[in-house]
Amino acid sequence: MRVDRLPLLALSIGLLLAALWAGLIRLGWAWPPLVAPLPMAHGPLMVGGFLGTVIGLERAIALGRRWGYSAPLFAGLGALLTALGIVPWGPLILALGSLGLAATTIVVVRIHPATHTIVLALAATTWLVGNLLWLFGQMIPQVVVWWIGFLVLTIAGERLELSRFLRPPAWVRWTFVAVVAVMLAGMALAAVSYPLGMRVSGLGWLLLAAWLLRVDIARRRVRVGGQARFMALALLAGYFWLGAAGIMAMIYGGIMAGPRYDALLHSVFLGFVLSMIFAHALIIFPVVLGAALPYHPRFYVHLGLLHATLVLRVAGDLLPWWPGRLWGGTLNVIVVLLFLANTVTSLRRRPSLPA
Ligand code: HEM
Repeated sequence: MRVDRLPLLALSIGLLLAALWAGLIRLGWAWPPLVAPLPMAHGPLMVGGFLGTVIGLERAIALGRRWGYSAPLFAGLGALLTALGIVPWGPLILALGSLGLAATTIVVVRIHPATHTIVLALAATTWLVGNLLWLFGQMIPQVVVWWIGFLVLTIAGERLELSRFLRPPAWVRWTFVAVVAVMLAGMALAAVSYPLGMRVSGLGWLLLAAWLLRVDIARRRVRVGGQARFMALALLAGYFWLGAAGIMAMIYGGIMAGPRYDALLHSVFLGFVLSMIFAHALIIFPVVLGAALPYHPRFYVHLGLLHATLVLRVAGDLLPWWPGRLWGGTLNVIVVLLFLANTVTSLRRRPSLPA
């Protein structure tokens, strides 16, 4: 077990728990916020604090250079200071974390130039741009399209890397590049006209979902059974939500608050991103911790409940039907806790993997 990596992992899990509490208060529960700025820090805590730290840690391990760890460290610290209301230091340090991740991914491109490494570098740069816009005064709903771009492009790059093993024909790569170009154009347009930028981004997410459903290895792995089927189903369900979010973004454009905003954001963040995490946890945790995480059929409980409770929340948002949104969102939190419990109790010691 790589105990030296535990502090950063613990920091990211701690920030996730704080983000969940903040999310419950944002849903409408009149519970104490612990510190006054916490509810408004829900987004930065989730995207930068939790996911930025985990992704930064994974990249630092892959790069194998000590300075690479500055990215997850700064991302985590920046999110923590933001939650404590220490501004502008929190957003500034968070931006430094994304700068560190951009530097890490650019070094990887220089070592191994390929479409997927370039997309991962673009993803980190997208996060950096979003964080800089936020640091210089844009509101979170105006920069969230960049934060979504960071996570969607990161996952897209990783899936492209895996699809290489199927030796795809040239059109597969070119259509992927075209889809990424649509997403980048959407983000750039958002700086000029947010509704238009959001709609073009939404088109990009929809096209990416279609590309993944058509090309990704997941479709073939469903029939294999065991861990492969579990991962494939988590991926396919995630692609469905990405497409749904794309359609919502095209319809609602620059929505910046309220139930439709909630539905759009969490279709991506919970339906797509979290489902990807559920799938990839079986690979990421062993690499990060040097411990084994054997697949267990009970993982279907957190996977199934994630999607069922999200359907309830999004239906509640769109109808609108307040109890559906409130209870769907609350159950989303319980599902994340269940995922953590299932994962921690399944971890097994084994000789450390090489870094
Ligand atoms: C697990 C349960 C979650 C709950 C209960 C929750 C709750 C909420 C609520 C109620 C809002 C406000 C929506 C509105 O203005 O109407 C919100 C916004 C947001 N959420 Fe979540 N959320 C959850 C998960 C996530 C995840 C996993 C992410 C990212 C990975 C995320 C990122 C965001 C962001 C970026 C915003 C926009 C923040 C802002 O505009 O200030 N959420 N969330």
